[in-house]
Amino acid sequence: MDNRVIYLKNGKDVYGKKTELFIYGEKIYQIKEEIKSSDVDNLKKDVGIQTIRIIDLKENTVMPGVIDIHTHMREPGITYKEDFETGSRACAKGGITTFFDMPNTLPPTTSLNELILKKEAAKRKAIVNYGFHFGGSNKNNINEIKQVLKNKEANTVKIFMNVTTGEMLIENEKILKEIFKNSKLILVHAENEMIDQALFLNEKYGNGLYICHIPSKEELIKVIKGKKDKKINNYKHPVYVEVTPHHLFLNEKIRESSERNKLLLRMKPELRTSIDNEFLWEALNKGEIDTIGTDHAPHLINEKLEKVTFGMPGVETSLGLMLNAFNEGKIKLEKIQELMCENPAKIMKIKERGFLKEGYYADIIVVDLTKKWKVTNKELESKCRWSPYENWELQGKNILTIVNGKIVYENGKIQENIKNGKEIEFYE
Ligand code: DOR
Ligand code: ZN
Ligand code: ZN
Repeated sequence: MDNRVIYLKNGKDVYGKKTELFIYGEKIYQIKEEIKSSDVDNLKKDVGIQTIRIIDLKENTVMPGVIDIHTHMREPGITYKEDFETGSRACAKGGITTFFDMPNTLPPTTSLNELILKKEAAKRKAIVNYGFHFGGSNKNNINEIKQVLKNKEANTVKIFMNVTTGEMLIENEKILKEIFKNSKLILVHAENEMIDQALFLNEKYGNGLYICHIPSKEELIKVIKGKKDKKINNYKHPVYVEVTPHHLFLNEKIRESSERNKLLLRMKPELRTSIDNEFLWEALNKGEIDTIGTDHAPHLINEKLEKVTFGMPGVETSLGLMLNAFNEGKIKLEKIQELMCENPAKIMKIKERGFLKEGYYADIIVVDLTKKWKVTNKELESKCRWSPYENWELQGKNILTIVNGKIVYENGKIQENIKNGKEIEFYE
């Protein structure tokens, strides 16, 4: 029986209210403003605990661990760029306690069998929790989709409607229509007019649409318009929209500022202008965006510098960048929690994660809002070992990561030999 107890003392929640927690085993046993000695006695009586590890949070902020719906962990087949071990270590460091992996691996995750192999690899290697998006195939894998969703091996299907890394582009309208008819929530890589098409397919045939990585004002205006239209966005086929940190913090001007950046800062969708950055920030604060997903898409630096390669890493810097933005007055902490923890859990229908609640899994992070740090390539955990934010000086950092009740990152270090990631479960 796993009967560890951790007492997180003297923390604050994102609203600034004092918060203390008891973790028992994998779950949050108690959460309240102040844990009293009588609570400790009750706990001992209830669960028969002898020793309790007490961690003084020193008024730092305690949050649910970040859930990143959008990562490319490159396993299987492309593991020289990343794998479930290195990718999940990078997550733990960055404050991400659950990631969802995309299907554009080698081979792509477009059959139940491939999905099961992926799950086995993640189970062996991941130090944080994981889930998977199944891939829609241009070779028509409707029967596989049906089976995967029926067995709840995955809840979501990812489709690529524009050319990007991997060979998963679907152009055939009949196949697209069938995929929408036979899926639950569909995640799309859709740019420009493909956004209209995705909204249309969802409205006519689909059961929910999650539009990944909106880069620009023009494209976001379309999505917001769709989201406001009850015919297009309703409980039968809801529409969600994600932005990435790189479309918030980076732009063409930064990309074009050096020969190195001209190659490193390429991705799909491409970076846009500072006007687009500002529009995305405004929409974020107005509640028009549902989630921040990193689109963590690592490639080795040599590959990036040798020829145009789309994608950049993100899991180690996403929360730090957002906390820095909080310190600059660009966003509220509770909004960060909503976009990065709560909404991803709700949209993906994840069981017992994404919130600090009694009975939920103890996926918890502690952030120091005053801590200043510099993004340094050689300190990164990701196998690609570079960051588009190299040498950026940020204020605000994750300092403690707890996954399923176990500490996996503390005092700047990953706790070795703790493979504590679990596959997430869905409540619906
Ligand atoms: O830039 C990108 N890289 N965009 C994508 O859609 C895929 C990703 C990758 O897998 O490298
Ligand atoms: Zn994409
Ligand atoms: Zn992606």
